[in-house]
Amino acid sequence: MYLQNALLPLTSLLWATTSQALNITISQPDVAFAPSPLPPSHTQSDGNAFVSLFQSLGRTTVWTLISATPFSGSTWEPEGLIRLGPDRYIVSCGEYTSPTVKYPNSLIIIGTDRSAGAGFAHLVVFSSNGSRIADATLTAPGAVEYHTGGLDYDGEWIWATLAQYRPNSTATVIKIDPSTLESEEVLRYDDHLGGIVHDVDESSVTALNWGGRNATRFRLPGGCSHAPTQSPSPSQSTPRKIKTVRNPSYYVDYQDCKFRGHVAAYQGRAVMLCSGVATIGSTATGTFNLGGIAIVDVETMVPLDEVPITMTSELGVPVTQNPVDVAVVDGKLRLYWLPDQHNSTLYVYEAQPDSPYEY
Ligand SMILES: *[C@@H]1O[C@H](CO)[C@@H](O)[C@H](O)[C@H]1NC(C)=O
Ligand SMILES: *[C@@H]1O[C@H](CO)[C@@H](O)[C@H](O)[C@H]1NC(C)=O
Ligand SMILES: *[C@@H]1O[C@H](CO)[C@@H](O)[C@H](O)[C@H]1NC(C)=O
Ligand SMILES: *[C@@H]1O[C@H](CO)[C@@H](O)[C@H](O)[C@H]1NC(C)=O
Ligand SMILES: *[C@@H]1O[C@H](CO)[C@@H](O)[C@H](O)[C@H]1NC(C)=O
Repeated sequence: MYLQNALLPLTSLLWATTSQALNITISQPDVAFAPSPLPPSHTQSDGNAFVSLFQSLGRTTVWTLISATPFSGSTWEPEGLIRLGPDRYIVSCGEYTSPTVKYPNSLIIIGTDRSAGAGFAHLVVFSSNGSRIADATLTAPGAVEYHTGGLDYDGEWIWATLAQYRPNSTATVIKIDPSTLESEEVLRYDDHLGGIVHDVDESSVTALNWGGRNATRFRLPGGCSHAPTQSPSPSQSTPRKIKTVRNPSYYVDYQDCKFRGHVAAYQGRAVMLCSGVATIGSTATGTFNLGGIAIVDVETMVPLDEVPITMTSELGVPVTQNPVDVAVVDGKLRLYWLPDQHNSTLYVYEAQPDSPYEY
């Protein structure tokens, strides 16, 4: 037990509200970054409808392409996507100016296996016609935590992570005001964090670790818990790690997740939509890319419903390669994917429910 504890990464959780001057390039000065008022969270609007529509999907679902819109300017590597109402998309992007390099002979230095590399984390705002509205650089030149991950939106804030671009390193959880793109530091953690979701009801955030193979959950100050045994003590004034759980699904590696609430269809359990891709097979036997989407239990990472996705972009990249968002539009389930690097096209697909007789 003593040894096990000694091997765990130190958790240094800080609660800070400092924010540095925003480094921003504005392309359309008269256009607001976000709609006013902001759209409600999907927990409040379409979370339950989303889950019941997802439960009608299957392998024979017909996915109708609604639109394919090129986004102007570089998106570097798109990591997270938020559809903020019908006319705004916010994308987290990773610009890499110097690659990470693996240490020779499988060497591990201070717990990790490669050099830090260098780059910038961006948050870029687009209109639905693909025009670029603003590009905020979230990290300072030389910052070691320059890798951003997935995004989530809770009706007020956009949640994001800034991490070192290497395993077993460090990360910072931030929240961003969509109207100003100003960010606030929420907590620091001694491991890599990527895709993140915010559960407003439980006042917790859950973020994927390196490769999406584990997920770590933190209780935030304030708010009340659904589970009385886990409710924060009144004195809790800083974020606190709850636990790290293993992700038991190996079909696809999740790239970006979206909180969808404590839904009735799953007895009030907190669920998220995740989208991702994996290369299956080996060079000896041949490989193929498998794309997929899943409804995942946020607390346990157990997938509750999974569907493969086979569409690719015009450049041949699986649509689930990078970020995702989802909405219920006129009673239909729509998925928003941004698969390609650098020159990205937003693909919007609508699901036609499966016929139960097609199997
Ligand atoms: C992570 O790094 C720490 C040192 O920073 C080390 O003690 C620990 O063993 C490493 N964990 C893994 C899983 O490599
Ligand atoms: C694209 O959308 C922006 C923001 O809504 C608007 O200002 C601009 O005029 C639109 N451009 C075109 C070509 O429609
Ligand atoms: C602003 O961000 C760009 C990268 O997008 C970087 O080259 C520049 O140095 C940054 N400026 C400041 C003052 O941080
Ligand atoms: C994943 O989490 C499990 C359970 O906490 C832990 O034993 C394991 O070391 C973690 N793996 C990585 C790669 O962090
Ligand atoms: C984007 O596409 C244009 C036109 O095809 C090309 O000239 C440009 O090099 C591409 N940019 C990147 C970053 O790939």
